[in-house]
Amino acid sequence: MAGTTPRPALRPSAGAPHARLLGLGAYRPSRVVPNSEVVLGIDSTDEWIRQRSGIEERRWATDDETLRMMSVAAARRALEDSGVDARQIDCVVVATVSHFMQTPALATLVAHDLGTDQAAAFDVSAACAGFCHGVAMASDMVRGGSARHVLVIGAERLSEQTDPHDRGTAFIFADGAGAVVVGPGDEPGIGPVVWGSDGEQYDLIRSREDWRDVLTSESPRMPHLVMQGNAVFRWASFQMAKTGLQALDRAGIGVDDLDCFVPHQANNRITDAMARAMKLPDSVAIARDIVHQGNTSAASIPLALDRMREEGQARSGDTALLIAFGAGLAYAAQVVVLP
Ligand code: COA
Repeated sequence: MAGTTPRPALRPSAGAPHARLLGLGAYRPSRVVPNSEVVLGIDSTDEWIRQRSGIEERRWATDDETLRMMSVAAARRALEDSGVDARQIDCVVVATVSHFMQTPALATLVAHDLGTDQAAAFDVSAACAGFCHGVAMASDMVRGGSARHVLVIGAERLSEQTDPHDRGTAFIFADGAGAVVVGPGDEPGIGPVVWGSDGEQYDLIRSREDWRDVLTSESPRMPHLVMQGNAVFRWASFQMAKTGLQALDRAGIGVDDLDCFVPHQANNRITDAMARAMKLPDSVAIARDIVHQGNTSAASIPLALDRMREEGQARSGDTALLIAFGAGLAYAAQVVVLP
């Protein structure tokens, strides 16, 4: 307008040229629950569970192993692994569907426990895809300039939300936490994310009721997770292989350049189907954490990475394809270089 001083252009935010994973940590609950214990509540057998899912045992948290405690323990290990001090963390992201407080976010408590009260802190609700959503956002934050170091934690206590008498879910879900520190890098260490959702399939995996229905019910009960397993199985086996190939393509690499394949640990047969559909060469190490850990939703990928590293199947500098998928149906995949 005539006579008014033009508004100065805002200074653009600017971050690091590249982002990468700087450290990894995990926390596995102490209680090991074999199939023989789970089948006490359902009409099933150890053999059926092993054959149809790959699971031999899982970890369930004790009363002391709260979501907060497990998140902090995994985060401390990731910080130690990265060499980054908690006070250098600018943002804490917790991916979870197990925090039973509507607000505030669990991440604020975790940031406080870690001694990084100045950090931005919030939770992400993208179910089993949450960890990869967190890594994608962290990468963009570091490159965009809103944070230099981001702690991404995937943490769940699904044993609490699982009906021990539901044949379709009782043997699958489990507890644990995993974390990574994302920070600046000299070269790209986190490839472009391929992500999305399909709300038409909202009902395939969900809480049985919402909290208002629970509270107005004559006999209130925990809104356990319910799942149409077979439909999820088909969707994941076919669609997620395509998503994985897109993530490789967007990162500019092919299956022969991969060292590790780390899909969400939902079912070993889904993992096999994806690996076949993507034509992964035998040289690619495949995560099988589900055998001893069960399906820990948002925690499953960092837990699986941790086991692969511990067992020597994955090394620092390796290239890994992560694919996470679950309720929503939400999904996210990216290629990363391991810390
Ligand atoms: N124990 C023994 N038998 C069982 C069973 C159990 N826990 N659950 C189902 N069955 C039986 C069914 O009754 C059916 O019997 P029938 O052939 O005589 O009718 C048979 O096994 C096949 O049932 P179905 O539901 O088709 O099993 P499935 O092969 O799809 O396996 C899951 C079930 C849950 C293991 C599988 O669907 C799955 O893993 N889905 C994806 C789960 C997942 O990834 N969830 C999380 C995403 S985050």
